[in-house]
Amino acid sequence: NQSSGGQPPTGADHFSRSGFIFAAIGSAVGLGNMWKFPYITGKYGGAAFFLLFVIFLVLVGLPVLLAEMTIGRGGRGSAYTSFRNLSKVKVWGTFGFLAILGAFMILSFYGVVAGWTLHYAFLSFTGSLFSSSDYGGTFASFSGSYVPVFWLLVVMVLTGWVVARGISGGIEKFNKILIPALLVILLVLMGRALTLPGAMEGVRFFLKPDFSKLTAESALVALGHAFFSLSLGMGTMLTYGAYVDRRQSLGGAAAAIGLGDLFYALLAGMIIFPTSAAFALKADQGPSLIFVVLPAAFGAMPYGTFFGGLFFVLLAIAALTSAVSLLEVPVIYAMEKWKLARTKAAWGTAALIFLVGIPSALSVGGPLSRFTLGGKTYFDLLDFAASNVLLPVGGLVVTLFTGYAWKKAGEEAGLTGPLYRIWLFVLRYVAPVMILLIFLYSLGLFG
Ligand code: PFF
Repeated sequence: NQSSGGQPPTGADHFSRSGFIFAAIGSAVGLGNMWKFPYITGKYGGAAFFLLFVIFLVLVGLPVLLAEMTIGRGGRGSAYTSFRNLSKVKVWGTFGFLAILGAFMILSFYGVVAGWTLHYAFLSFTGSLFSSSDYGGTFASFSGSYVPVFWLLVVMVLTGWVVARGISGGIEKFNKILIPALLVILLVLMGRALTLPGAMEGVRFFLKPDFSKLTAESALVALGHAFFSLSLGMGTMLTYGAYVDRRQSLGGAAAAIGLGDLFYALLAGMIIFPTSAAFALKADQGPSLIFVVLPAAFGAMPYGTFFGGLFFVLLAIAALTSAVSLLEVPVIYAMEKWKLARTKAAWGTAALIFLVGIPSALSVGGPLSRFTLGGKTYFDLLDFAASNVLLPVGGLVVTLFTGYAWKKAGEEAGLTGPLYRIWLFVLRYVAPVMILLIFLYSLGLFG
C-alpha cells in the first residue's frame, strides 16, 4: 500500500505517526519560544505583535512547513539527496547542501546558549544563583569564563547520544518523554506566575493589543520569527519528513505542529510577563531578559530556588529537543555521503560541532570577544550568517522548488482542489516576496 516513492533513508527505522508530531514540535519549540519570543513581544508591542505573529505563522509559515516536509518525504534523503532524487537540475542539491551547512552552524552557537541554560539550572537548584543580587554581574562573569565550553560539551554529548540511538529509539523516544514534561513544567510555572500579586498587569501587557506600536519593523520581525520558530529553511523539517510514513497526512501534521508551537509560545509569555510585572521588572530589555531579569524575580519569591531551577530546566529541555533536530540534518548527510553507520556519523558530527562551537562559547564577553569583524563577534557572525542569510535562502529554495520546479509536490503533500491552489499561490507569490523582505530587512537595507 505504498503508492509511490521509496523507503525512509535508513530502511526500517522511521517515526510513528505521533512520534513524528512530537519530534517536529520538539524542533519547533525551543529557545525561540521561551527566550526570543517573549523579549521581542515585549519590545515590539505586546499583544499586537503576538497577533501579527499568529497571522504570519498561519498564512506563510504553515504552507512553507508543509512544503519542506513534503520534499523530505518525497525525496527520502538528506536536504541534499532529497532534492537530487526529485529533480535532475543539480543546483537544487547545492542549495540543499547550504541548508545542511546552516544547521551545522546554528547548532554550534545554539548549543552554547543551551549550555547556559543548563548552567543556570544548576546554579539555581544549588541556590548559588541567589547568593548575590547582581545578576548582570553573575552573567558577565560566567559568560566571560571558560565554563561555557564545558556546558557546550555536555549539550553535544547529550544530543549526540540521542541521535546515535536512531529515529524511533532515539529522537522519537526523547521527544515523546520531554515534550509532555515540558507542558507540565510550563503549567506549574504558569500557576506560580499568575498567583503572584500584581501578575495581572503582565497578562494585560501580553494580551491587550496596542496597535499604535506596530511598525513595518515589528511586522518583519514577526515574520522572521514565524520562520525561525517553525524551524524552517534549515532542512530540519525536511529531514524529519524523510522518516514519515507515506500514509500519514502531512497537512494535518503541519497544522498540529503550528498549533503546538503557538501554544508553547503563549504559555511561555504567560509565565514571563506576569513574573516580571509582579516584581516590577521591565520585560522589554532584550536578550538578557531570562538570564538577568528573571533570576531577580525568582530570587525574590518564596521557593525561588525550586521555581527558578525548574524554569531553567524548562529552557534546557526546549533547547535540547531543537538541538537534536539540528544535529540530525548533517548526520543523515554524513551517513549517505561516507556510508557511515549512524553511531559513527552522530558522534563524529557532534564532536565537530563542539569544536566549531568553542570560539562561540568564548566570545560572549569571554576571552575571544575582543576579536570582531564589522563590530560582530564570532558568535554574532555565525548567528547572523545562519539566521539572517542561510535561513531565508533555505526558505526561498523550498518555496521555489515546490512552487515551480517539482510538479508532483501537491500529490505528495496530499492536497487537492482549492486548498492545493491556495498552497501553490502562497508558495509561488506570497512566501518568496515575504522572505525576500525579511532578508533585505535583516541585511539592514531599510535603514
Ligand atoms: N525553532 C527553534 C526555536 O524556536 O528555538 C530554533 C530552530 C531549530 C531554528 C531548528 C531552525 C532550526 F532548523
